[in-house]
Amino acid sequence: MARALLTRLHERASPVPVAPVQLSAPAYRQKQTSFHRSPAWSELMKKIEAIIKPFKLEEVRDGLTGLGVQGMTISEVKGFGRQKGHQEIYRGAEYQVDFIPKIKIELIVEADRTQDVLDLIQEKARTGKIGDGKIFVLPVEACQRIRTGESGPDAL
Ligand SMILES: Nc1ncnc2c1ncn2[C@@H]1O[C@H](COP(=O)(O)OP(=O)(O)OP(=O)(O)O)[C@@H](O)[C@H]1O
Ligand SMILES: [Mg+2]
Repeated sequence: MARALLTRLHERASPVPVAPVQLSAPAYRQKQTSFHRSPAWSELMKKIEAIIKPFKLEEVRDGLTGLGVQGMTISEVKGFGRQKGHQEIYRGAEYQVDFIPKIKIELIVEADRTQDVLDLIQEKARTGKIGDGKIFVLPVEACQRIRTGESGPDAL
């Protein structure tokens, strides 16, 4: 009798059964490993996006290549900042529209060079007048060099 009671108490105290251990990774994890990436890479690489005045491009590019930057991408873009595009002068004419032509520079660098790149762009792109632009720093998860198949920071 006492033994039966003890058994019942023990059963009541035993933990709620847990779901069986999942042997395969959940779908979202499997998807992430479909490209080659290492958890450390996001610590080792950064993307820098700079929006600058078009006439500053050469000066900025020369400065960046002087720093030893391996590559960059530029595009002609349009945008506005706090003045909503009004009041800005481009090639001597005041723009009546909301979007002012700018150049966007995109480059991926080794993370420990980020501050040098920021300082360089700040120095070269600045006029001190409105519309000088912005610099953004973003995370990078992976990088792959198409010709060789290298990946991670080695592929920059
Ligand atoms: N928050 C933002 N997000 C995305 N792009 C932006 C942002 N702010 C500015 N830009 C881009 O940068 C360009 C230049 O911005 P701008 O230098 O005018 O910024 P601002 O904050 O108005 O500074 P300033 O007062 O010096 O003009 C814009 O035309 C736009 O393309
Ligand atoms: Mg502005």
